[in-house]
Amino acid sequence: MAKVAFIGLGVMGYPMAGHLKVKGGHELTVYNRTFAKAEKWAAEFGGRATATPAEAADGADFVFSCVGNDDDLRSVTTGKDGAFETLKKGAVFIDNTTASAEVARELDAAATTRGAHFIDAPVSGGQAGAENGVLTVMCGGDPDVFERARPVIDAYARMVGLMGPAGSGQLTKMVNQICIAGLVQGLAEGIHFGKKAGLDIGKVIEVISKGAAGSWQMENRHKTMDAGKYEFGFAVDWMRKDLDILLAEARNNGAKLPVTALVDQFYADVQAMGGNRWDTSSLLARLEK
Ligand SMILES: NC(=O)c1ccc[n+]([C@@H]2O[C@H](COP(=O)([O-])OP(=O)(O)OC[C@H]3O[C@@H](n4cnc5c(N)ncnc54)[C@H](OP(=O)(O)O)[C@@H]3O)[C@@H](O)[C@H]2O)c1
Repeated sequence: MAKVAFIGLGVMGYPMAGHLKVKGGHELTVYNRTFAKAEKWAAEFGGRATATPAEAADGADFVFSCVGNDDDLRSVTTGKDGAFETLKKGAVFIDNTTASAEVARELDAAATTRGAHFIDAPVSGGQAGAENGVLTVMCGGDPDVFERARPVIDAYARMVGLMGPAGSGQLTKMVNQICIAGLVQGLAEGIHFGKKAGLDIGKVIEVISKGAAGSWQMENRHKTMDAGKYEFGFAVDWMRKDLDILLAEARNNGAKLPVTALVDQFYADVQAMGGNRWDTSSLLARLEK
């Protein structure tokens, strides 16, 4: 049992922190910008809600965060009353936010200055993966530190991998998002075509999902896409944030991402349709407009 702090109890962080308490059996302190959520979490799981990230991290062996973007992450770490103010020597800060590789390297250096450690650990698997404790976690950091953190991370994960030094977890998550972007557009076009052709989409997917076209997106999203339901899942706003980060990284490393860049523009169209919080499978709604 370790002393663990968790910062950011959103859609993902709330259940992840819950698993650290219930499955991991750790002693938890939690911080959330909207304090009522931290109080709710503490009442549900039995931990201590704190008023600042610094207070949450004080004395903790492992400090987790899961906030929105780079700026949010800087604000809860190196910002005023941020966790790095109290991060103790030897503590490990594990960041589950999907952010840039640059901010991961920056925080790795800042943690080292304080005699502490940093691991970037973005996740894949969505809200359901977080609630069921079966996320995929892509880590970047020092191998010895990773080995110490891994059994703690295991509480909310099915797959945890060390991909390389600081920033490598974020770079791996970028590969994940690149693969998803083109795939979801392909799935949307397939379903769009099938409907225009007068086919029964349920039957089509039942057959083709077992062949070479099968995917997680196809299995988990075809029913809601066919029904035109998008008010759930991984928000288009979050996807555009991720695409923005990875397209910037591609400009630096010279990777060519023509389809990903195009799909990013399609998501801008979905936002213009009012779909900011719709699931990423709403690319179909754009075709049906
Ligand atoms: N949702 C998914 O399916 C999914 C899947 C994989 C990865 N992710 C990534 O995981 C991260 C969190 O996603 P989510 O869906 O949990 O988002 P969310 O529900 O919007 O939660 C974001 C959390 O960050 C906090 N926060 C945001 N800005 C802050 C700031 N400046 N200072 C302090 N706290 C701040 C929010 O506090 P308040 O409660 O006060 O707003 C909230 O606790 C994102 O990077 C996202 O891309 C999400």
